[in-house]
Amino acid sequence: MTWNIPLFKMYWDQDDLTAVTNTLSSGMNWAVGPEVSQFEQELSEYIGTKYCLTFNSGTSALHAALLAYDIGKGDEVIVPSFTFIATANSSLFVGARPVFADIEEQTLGLNPEDVLEKITHQTKAIIPIHYGGCPCMIRELREIADDHNLILIEDAAEAFGASINGEKVGTFGDSAMLSFCQNKIITTGDGGAMVTNSRDLYEKMKLIRSHGRLETADYFSSCDTMDYVTLGYNFRLSNIAASLGRAQLRKVEAVIKMRKEIALQYMKQFKDLQKTVIPLTAPDNYSHVYQLFSARVQERNQLMAYLTKKGIMSKVYFSPVHHTYYYRDVLQYTSSLQVTEKISDEIISLPLYPGMPEEDVRYVGSAIHEFYESNGTLNG
Ligand SMILES: Cc1ncc(COP(=O)(O)O)c(C=O)c1O
Repeated sequence: MTWNIPLFKMYWDQDDLTAVTNTLSSGMNWAVGPEVSQFEQELSEYIGTKYCLTFNSGTSALHAALLAYDIGKGDEVIVPSFTFIATANSSLFVGARPVFADIEEQTLGLNPEDVLEKITHQTKAIIPIHYGGCPCMIRELREIADDHNLILIEDAAEAFGASINGEKVGTFGDSAMLSFCQNKIITTGDGGAMVTNSRDLYEKMKLIRSHGRLETADYFSSCDTMDYVTLGYNFRLSNIAASLGRAQLRKVEAVIKMRKEIALQYMKQFKDLQKTVIPLTAPDNYSHVYQLFSARVQERNQLMAYLTKKGIMSKVYFSPVHHTYYYRDVLQYTSSLQVTEKISDEIISLPLYPGMPEEDVRYVGSAIHEFYESNGTLNG
């Protein structure tokens, strides 16, 4: 379907085109090359960690991290169900069991109290997400992880550039995953990364990323025969994608500023719908980067149908993972997560992207007003 107003659009400029064209026209290093290591260095500088390793998706980044931490059979990993399924699946990839904890209502991230309830002697790690660009209660989760000797891996797929008191998301965990899929804050089409201060983790993930190969030099331009010392995958980000990532990173602050401005415009429009449309707002000192503009609304499904009629795309981020066919019927999860289930019934994500014209934001706002006015539920 073509939408009058899509949910998201990529933000790109001449710098992106030049960067990719330069890599292509060099006629070399399309898979592996110097853009990758430069992108990694720039990412670690931006986030504020010692190491960064790129991957061909956020999902493969998480997969590699769990393997590198030696998480596997018999281990439990506490995750939200209010997330994209890859957060939970990463545990299944390595034979561990994802254990769902509930979320709290302010940031819609993992509820530290429920995480405490879910810890058993098998728990090895916690993987919280920063929902839609809003940092979760990560400092509280850090304390819990420290007290219980657990690994804390931030799933920061949606929150590139978000921070608490100026400290970037991605620096609170023992490691953090970033995603560069097309709907994220910066994008390489598909792509991801892990950031960490642990040299050991970095070295292990590096082997896993590329076939378990001990690389003494660039594999493709070296005559050396290299040894394979562990089981590995091809999880590499291409050099072409990395050149795009570097160009995207150069404008990330402007992109975040635009996202925040559009979120503010929405907030203003919803001021008179206080009990009907409740946008997610970050706590003080939290910098929310609005990868999503999400709100809790009344009559969510009818509203979505109305917006669709107007050519406005909206989406439910997220339906609970434990309600999917795979988790419920195949894996037989019977979790009951009150807040997750309630929020999933009320949440809607509205169009937001850098460069979205103010008149389009107004069009979405007016359509929502029209819907509630015609239903007589304004502030009901
Ligand atoms: C919270 C969350 N975790 C994991 C992922 C997976 O990232 P990717 O699509 O880069 O594999 C995404 C993005 O789709 C996400 O939003």
